[in-house]
Amino acid sequence: MASNEPIGVFDSGVGGLAVVEQIRKLLPREDIVYYADRGHFPYGPKSAQAVLSLSISAVEFLLSKRSKLIVVACNTASAAALSELRQQFKIPFVGVVPAIKPASLQTRSGKIGVIATEGTLHAEMFQGLVEQFASGLEVVTVACPLLVEFVEEGRVGGPELELALHSYIDPILESGADTLVLGCTHYSFLKEAVERIAGPEVAVLETSKPVAKQVQRLLQENDLLSETADHGLITYYASGDLENFNEVKEKLFSVRAVE
Ligand code: DGL
Repeated sequence: MASNEPIGVFDSGVGGLAVVEQIRKLLPREDIVYYADRGHFPYGPKSAQAVLSLSISAVEFLLSKRSKLIVVACNTASAAALSELRQQFKIPFVGVVPAIKPASLQTRSGKIGVIATEGTLHAEMFQGLVEQFASGLEVVTVACPLLVEFVEEGRVGGPELELALHSYIDPILESGADTLVLGCTHYSFLKEAVERIAGPEVAVLETSKPVAKQVQRLLQENDLLSETADHGLITYYASGDLENFNEVKEKLFSVRAVE
């Protein structure tokens, strides 16, 4: 695989764009091919088997675009498919997992909240993370199916979203959690709204930056960093409605200050 080929990134929709944003900042010379599998959105309520087969199709598509490394920019797909993908395809993969480890190092109350999709919370991989890093802690998990719908429509504010956020997050706050993990890439676009509701005493963690760092590390290790001097190109593909995808993308980034 040549170093000037693109990095492939996929998600069920717009969630992985938060990861692309960070990769772009860290590695501006890299070309990126983004695939939003909106035709099969949402992944969260689907069986692990179904998400695995959609992930295989997404990877095959990204390989047809000559990806040199693939980022599974979706917690649900990483939980269901990452180990199988690594066995089936001989290129480097980076996945996204909920930030249980950093949360467990950071909590003072010994209570961590995790919001994610149903698929992620039920996955063996997630249970393994909790056992490995948070065994002596209380971990309060809440599946939030409505949130991905809001973000996929580009709605990251407003009274209806506020209501939904309260219904999911209030029980976590009432439990005394002082650290809240955003375990779904779509929720990155809700970070400010979540922080506002959670208040200054609660740390809200998401993983776009560490994922971008891991991409950089793996490219370095495999001698795959782009050698061009120019700015890289980002190309977007979607199953389903690409035009609407572009509109939502514009909306999400116009309301979001790049850190
Ligand atoms: N963005 C995906 C994740 O990180 C989930 C969205 C969906 O349910 O499709 O889990």
